[in-house]
Amino acid sequence: MSAGGHRIEVMHGVNLDMLGRRDPEHYGTLTLDELERQIESFAVELGMEARFFRTNSETEYVERLHGLRELVDGAILNPGAWTHYSWAIHDALEIAALPAVEVHLSDVKARERWRSLSVIEDLCLESIRGKGVEGYRLALQRLKRHLEGEMANGGQEGGT
Ligand code: DQA
Repeated sequence: MSAGGHRIEVMHGVNLDMLGRRDPEHYGTLTLDELERQIESFAVELGMEARFFRTNSETEYVERLHGLRELVDGAILNPGAWTHYSWAIHDALEIAALPAVEVHLSDVKARERWRSLSVIEDLCLESIRGKGVEGYRLALQRLKRHLEGEMANGGQEGGT
């Protein structure tokens, strides 16, 4: 753990840079910059450090996951539509072997059928959906609990 608390990488995937122009009923009205600033303030309140990564390239997302273990203590993933079919991201998250929480602004289980599958769910401590921005606060809290438990157990809790 760094002096600034647990370091958490918040990873936004495909089309999330278009927040603010997407259906506000599902995604709210914040831009991705505004969303990240909000997550940053949740992290500060919790004594954690949030770092941000965003891309529309699946290759970049996968490669970021490959190197992540050396950089942070945990991750929050919102891979956008990749969530529903990218087994490459599933495998990269498995390789990252970090505690991770999945977040979706919208309730993906209550929308089109193709959105109800998450290929990363089995690798995540928790999947949070349909809670908008608040979902990221819950994800940070979940990671904090996990990482503090890990420290108390002398690192026995494992990667995911
Ligand atoms: C999303 C849900 C996905 O189904 C969708 O493709 C997105 C955003 C969400 O945050 O609700 O791009 O991950």
